[in-house]
Amino acid sequence: MKGILLAGGSGSRLYPLTKTISKQLLPVYDKPMIYYPLSTLMHFEIRDILIISTPNDTPNIEKLLGNGEQLGMKISYKIQPQPRGIAQAFTIGEQFIGDNNVCLILGDNIFHMDTEFADFQSAVKKNQNNRATIFAYQVSDPERFGVVEFDKNNRAISIEEKPAKPKSNFASVGLYFYPSDVVQYARDLKPSARGEYEITDLNNIYLRQGRMSVVPMHRGNVWLDAGTPNSLMDSGNFVQMIEARQGIKIACIEEIAFARGFIDATQMARLIDKAPRGQYRTYLERVLNEKQR
Ligand code: G1P
Repeated sequence: MKGILLAGGSGSRLYPLTKTISKQLLPVYDKPMIYYPLSTLMHFEIRDILIISTPNDTPNIEKLLGNGEQLGMKISYKIQPQPRGIAQAFTIGEQFIGDNNVCLILGDNIFHMDTEFADFQSAVKKNQNNRATIFAYQVSDPERFGVVEFDKNNRAISIEEKPAKPKSNFASVGLYFYPSDVVQYARDLKPSARGEYEITDLNNIYLRQGRMSVVPMHRGNVWLDAGTPNSLMDSGNFVQMIEARQGIKIACIEEIAFARGFIDATQMARLIDKAPRGQYRTYLERVLNEKQR
């Protein structure tokens, strides 16, 4: 399974915050936003990742994450010259995907889940090579998202992008799993009225073919997007509150790499050496010491 992290877009909903800085490099409390979707891919044990961003922002993201070797991962980069929609990630990533299954995550999506990662994984595994899997989350403002319509038996029958009159409260979250034929469908898509290659159009193709599982997320888990001033603030407040309460960090990529065995204690110590003195370094030292005890 390969992973694509789409960190493109003009960030217009966050202007002027995004006038000179990529949305995905803005802080969500104590880390750059992109750490959160990257950590989600890591929890899925996806270690070969393509990051797609704008011509301006890609060099900065590369400066932040490098080639991923320090985390026991492989991170490569491609440019989306213009913000032409989420589904374009698959044509830009065509060579990277090859004949692999692929997971796409959006750069402003934040997941805080525990055992549900395993549930997600088994839903995806069941569909492997043949069906797509997406996830739906109950929200109070569905009109901001792709909205899933379910029939009486709880089977998804359609997805509408930002409908004025949503047919349910279930938003399609920015985490999508596809078989490799997604590239072919993405290539044949026509741009929407707003000139974008829509992920929702792609998902409706799989739905119509009967090759799509829409899995509702448990209500006890948390999905946030950080793409508007309010949701960015809410996301930061949420992370701050959990981290202060529990004394642990959400989306600490070094910790996850170490806990999942992507890197060993020597490599972790090397990462700590490179970090300047401060709360983040102190946390990493604690993680290493606790594991070695
Ligand atoms: C995109 C998708 C939408 C999805 C959302 C999740 O919207 O088009 O279907 O629900 O991400 O964050 P955007 O945030 O790009 O407007």
